[in-house]
Amino acid sequence: MTVNDEATGQQPAATYDSAFLKACRREAVPHTPVWFMRQAGRSLPEYRKVREGTAMLESCMRPDLVTEITLQPVRRHGVDAAIYFSDIVVPLKAIGVDLDIKPGVGPVVERPIRSRADLAQLRDLTPDDVSYVTEAIGLLTGELGGTPLIGFAGAPFTLASYLVEGGPSRNHEHTKALMYGDPQLWADLLDRLAEITSAFLKVQIEAGASAVQLFDSWVGALAPADYRRSVMPASRKVFDAVASYGVPRIHFGVGTGELLGLLGEAGADVVGVDWRVPLDEAVRRVGPGKALQGNLDPAVLFAPREAVEAKTDEVLAAAAGLEGHVFNLGHGVLPTTDPDALTRLVEYVHTRTAA
Ligand code: CP3
Repeated sequence: MTVNDEATGQQPAATYDSAFLKACRREAVPHTPVWFMRQAGRSLPEYRKVREGTAMLESCMRPDLVTEITLQPVRRHGVDAAIYFSDIVVPLKAIGVDLDIKPGVGPVVERPIRSRADLAQLRDLTPDDVSYVTEAIGLLTGELGGTPLIGFAGAPFTLASYLVEGGPSRNHEHTKALMYGDPQLWADLLDRLAEITSAFLKVQIEAGASAVQLFDSWVGALAPADYRRSVMPASRKVFDAVASYGVPRIHFGVGTGELLGLLGEAGADVVGVDWRVPLDEAVRRVGPGKALQGNLDPAVLFAPREAVEAKTDEVLAAAAGLEGHVFNLGHGVLPTTDPDALTRLVEYVHTRTAA
């Protein structure tokens, strides 16, 4: 019995037994596994080179490019997992939402969703809408050997925030206006997004992803009571939809110190923690039965090597009592990060934690 055999028949024993999947399952590991959010991207010169002249969303629809970019950080840094190269808005684009990713800005939506009539933009996603994802994951699992591939999606709240604001937002004012002002429309919007996200994660798992991460990047903007009432039902629906595959489900958001327990309660097996809460405190907030992922401040990588090592030691010390720990940054790799600092960090964590 392998982890996602309900979907794929088999995943190689080497993948199942990898340090990353063992840590997610809270089993003993040969070393603490490491990967980095946004490891595939602008910090790498080889990424900028292959992306030259190709727009972001177009890159995401080209299986050859997706495969190459996903593999680049695995080759260069020796990370313990690959993350599928894409963006959280790709499934929305795939069902026909008129949006683009503007360099230096982020996702921009042509017709923001603010009324019931606007919901018509959000039809169901079928595997045929994202056949390039299935194809790319097939290519990737062939190349990755025993290194697991993490599939991902944006969580309903974070997707709703882009759709309702029309683009990136600091205060999420239109989003919150809808959430508080028309709770039924809000609930229906999040439920639609939960359906789309569930379908998209299923495509990735059935194609061979060994774990999935649900990014609720901006949900830290909410108080716990609002999260529980207005967001958790939709996120839980997504986690429930993929539960039967048995692949680890990771959940992450920025600035979610006050929400960590609820992020676990929503149905995650692994809770991602940003750098604001030390992992020994995070585990108290999350409670038993979950692994944790994190949580070096990505900006620390701009400090001298000794300082990076000292801050890494702090993270590892705080993680010492955890049942399962996946080392990561507290948010994505910053674009101007020195790639060599990332390579050194992987090696340092592996060496310091070798059993
Ligand atoms: O982690 C990885 O290495 C896989 C690739 C990945 C991308 N986006 C590629 C990308 C992942 C996991 C994402 C998820 C994503 N996208 C999130 C959740 C993670 C997080 O950072 O909290 C969010 C909020 C988005 C929305 C988004 N897309 C933003 C805010 C931006 C940056 C805008 C900018 O240019 O400053 C993007 C664009 C984007 N997504 C790029 C990449 C490599 C940069 C575009 C480019 O290289 O041209």
